[in-house]
Amino acid sequence: MQAAAGYITDVSYVPGFYPNMAPVLLRYVATLNRLTPPPADRFRYLELGCGLGRVFTTLAAADPRGEFVGVDVNPRHTDVADRDIAAGGLTNARAVTADFASLPDDLGTFSFIVLHGVYSWVAEEVRAQIRAVIQRHLAPGGLVLVSYNAMPGWAHLQPIRGILRQYAALRQGDSVQRIRDAVAYLLYIRDKQARYFTDNPRAAAYVDAIKSLDARYLAHEYLNDHWTSFYFADVATTMGRVGLDYVGSLPVHTNFWDLCVLPEFQELFRTTSNRLVSEAHKDFCANTAFRWDLYGRGLATLPTIEDRLARADDLCFGLGRPDVKLPHTANLGIVTSTTTGPLYEALLGLLRGGSRPLSAIVSDGALAGVAPGAIAQAVDAGVATGLFEVTSHPLPPSAPVPDGPLRVVLPFNREILSADILCGRPVALASTLTGTGTSIGDLDAAFIHELTSGGRPGLVERIDRRLAAAGRGIERDRQPVTVAAERTELLSQAADAVEATLVPQLLRQGILAAD
Ligand SMILES: C[S@@+](CC[C@H](N)C(=O)[O-])C[C@H]1O[C@@H](n2cnc3c(N)ncnc32)[C@H](O)[C@@H]1O
Repeated sequence: MQAAAGYITDVSYVPGFYPNMAPVLLRYVATLNRLTPPPADRFRYLELGCGLGRVFTTLAAADPRGEFVGVDVNPRHTDVADRDIAAGGLTNARAVTADFASLPDDLGTFSFIVLHGVYSWVAEEVRAQIRAVIQRHLAPGGLVLVSYNAMPGWAHLQPIRGILRQYAALRQGDSVQRIRDAVAYLLYIRDKQARYFTDNPRAAAYVDAIKSLDARYLAHEYLNDHWTSFYFADVATTMGRVGLDYVGSLPVHTNFWDLCVLPEFQELFRTTSNRLVSEAHKDFCANTAFRWDLYGRGLATLPTIEDRLARADDLCFGLGRPDVKLPHTANLGIVTSTTTGPLYEALLGLLRGGSRPLSAIVSDGALAGVAPGAIAQAVDAGVATGLFEVTSHPLPPSAPVPDGPLRVVLPFNREILSADILCGRPVALASTLTGTGTSIGDLDAAFIHELTSGGRPGLVERIDRRLAAAGRGIERDRQPVTVAAERTELLSQAADAVEATLVPQLLRQGILAAD
């Protein structure tokens, strides 16, 4: 096995898109925490350890105002990103094959530096290199997003990584073969009720989650030489040494402690303004196992709502779903939140007409008499609970689907739809209106591909042929459907659902257009 400071390189990773990494959301989290985000026009974005590149290439397609660079040590990964960049006709993205210690001298500075699935999986010397990259290449007023395995949530799962790695080291073959063998062993000792699993029922249940995951993902997750889960304070302290201050976290609801911990634990949050203390407390109350943290360097504060409206008003707010109704209930893991009341009724009514910036919301006659600060608070809480969404541009209201042909607007999306046909994992399509990607299931993506390339006649038959060619069955109530008429009926229902729900959404997001 080749190694890059102990990181596996013999097996390629799996492609994935993570909306938490979009500039639009990073800028929003800064604003929510009363800090001025980097400007939305002409920004530069650096992804460290970009893997196959689906995050930075999708975001580059979604936001032509930015220049996107992805770095990875594994040339097999950057080759895939290069291919997507060329096939998608992206002129604002490039992949760099390098390790973090030897980035090109002329890389310049960036207002966003992001890394997902990297910090916990590399040696401390590599983490030091990452911090050095941040110190050198983060522009003043810039943001850094770092995700990592967190304590205490990983405490009872840590031994699983230990046993997988130790067993895999005894096996032959590449990393995929060795992790498969190790998972089979893990299942065996769990099913034989090894004492560790009977003493730790949540670890026993976790084995079931592992067994159905892609072996390439598992190899990258568990077979590197280094693997560390961190307390929030450890990361905040080391980031502080390169001049970074904690800004907030993702998903959005994690910025609201009352949406993360039960009421009986909330007293400490009311009495401390020290984020290092309250985040640690939050992680214990929620047993956090993974964190997405946002840091910034030299971000100007936005102390009042007037400052926010004057200096950070380019984000737009709209309905999370066109059919959203009150009361709106969101299960946020630890807390289930219910939103209702006249202010939200008024906001819903207003946003049914299309999304808009906060300044247009607070000044709308429908909310006359409500303080701008209270409106902003309601909008932010609505984003946190999924009632509202935040986008880089205004989205139009929902409109009826045109009868005529439809097309996929961006060449990048056309390429992804065709290359990832029935790939067995979600497919992310870039939207220049939302400023991010929208992930859809691979069967839905196949419908969109066929609908836009071959039209509506014979759609179900074409999808059926594609499924057969890919060796993919159809299930009803978890049982395979083998009768042809029943398959056709199920696929027709799926096609109707795509036309009724997905197509209007993709039209609104500018991903599809009438031809
Ligand atoms: C678990 S993968 C995550 C990939 C991608 N960020 C994602 O979430 O899909 C970690 C990536 O970091 C890269 N990597 C590890 N050590 C590195 C180093 N020292 N320099 C550059 N890239 C590195 C690996 O090649 C791998 O692609």
